[in-house]
Amino acid sequence: MIIADFPYARPRRNRRDDFSRRLVREHNLSVDDLIYPVFVQEGANLLQPIPSMPGQVRYSPDTLLKVAEECVKLGIPVLALFPSIDNSLKTADGIEATNPNGLIPRVVRSLKKEFPELGILCDVALDPYTSHGQDGIIDDNGYVLNDETIAMLRQQALIQAEAGADYVAPSDMMDGRIGAIRQALEENHFIYTRIMAYSAKYASAFYGPFRDAVGSAGNLGKSNKMTYQIDPANRYEALREVAADIKEGADLVMVKPGMPYLDILREVKDYFKMPTYAYQVSGEYAMIKAAAQNGWLDHDKVMMESLLSFKRAGADGILTYFAIEAAKLLKKA
Ligand code: PBG
Repeated sequence: MIIADFPYARPRRNRRDDFSRRLVREHNLSVDDLIYPVFVQEGANLLQPIPSMPGQVRYSPDTLLKVAEECVKLGIPVLALFPSIDNSLKTADGIEATNPNGLIPRVVRSLKKEFPELGILCDVALDPYTSHGQDGIIDDNGYVLNDETIAMLRQQALIQAEAGADYVAPSDMMDGRIGAIRQALEENHFIYTRIMAYSAKYASAFYGPFRDAVGSAGNLGKSNKMTYQIDPANRYEALREVAADIKEGADLVMVKPGMPYLDILREVKDYFKMPTYAYQVSGEYAMIKAAAQNGWLDHDKVMMESLLSFKRAGADGILTYFAIEAAKLLKKA
């Protein structure tokens, strides 16, 4: 790279006018980059606010159809579904996750029927379904059992694929789950169901509001997920996780959370050159909302800057609770 010295080089020349700033702009955010995560629960006519995620609600299957329609109108490519399951259906083994007539498969069927052009992504993990709030089956000491959990995840992914999910997205971090799910899908002829792997998923405190939203926070109590999610101190470990998931058959990989892990995102993209996604998680959303509500930050500007930062760091797309608001702003621009 040739870098001239001042005064020949005046970087401010290109920054002087709007046209010249636009001409040198390296990254852009588009509606095609957005995946909207939503919460759904049984019932009708519900728009139940989630206090720690201002602006986000739990939908019932009927109100969810309206959001799906809005996504289609705005051009948001994919909707990601997370269930808030009635406590009476939660068990130690989370077996409701494998019910072919459970909430999620029913919702997927109705969404794909009404809006076949909208991509549907389903989370594969047991935490919304377990009485203890862990992502898998536990032993007497509360330790999450890997292989027993995988047997459930295979079943869960299969019923989602059967219902018509375009993407299954394992967010549990069990070893070998991508391979097991890919094998189950292939054996059952779901050869086009994509796997978006939560590959580099950290044991993060930024998931707090999400756990309120799916109702696992109380059940989880003081326990944590450190025995399966990645230690926030680690970098190379994330690369090994991504490598394993690609080898096992992932079509797309993810880094999660987002903004505190932009370094990992960049590294994953550079190293593997895979379709790579960032999850701007509930706590990141809550921080921006809270600061904006206090008048401490400019909501729209910070939202758009945060989303652009993922593109600059190498993301091909972003799972974000801001998807609808950002898409509306992009449409106006
Ligand atoms: C759990 C899951 C979590 C999120 C997505 N799937 C939380 C966790 O691991 O405890 C977090 C998403 C968010 O915080 O927005 N399988």
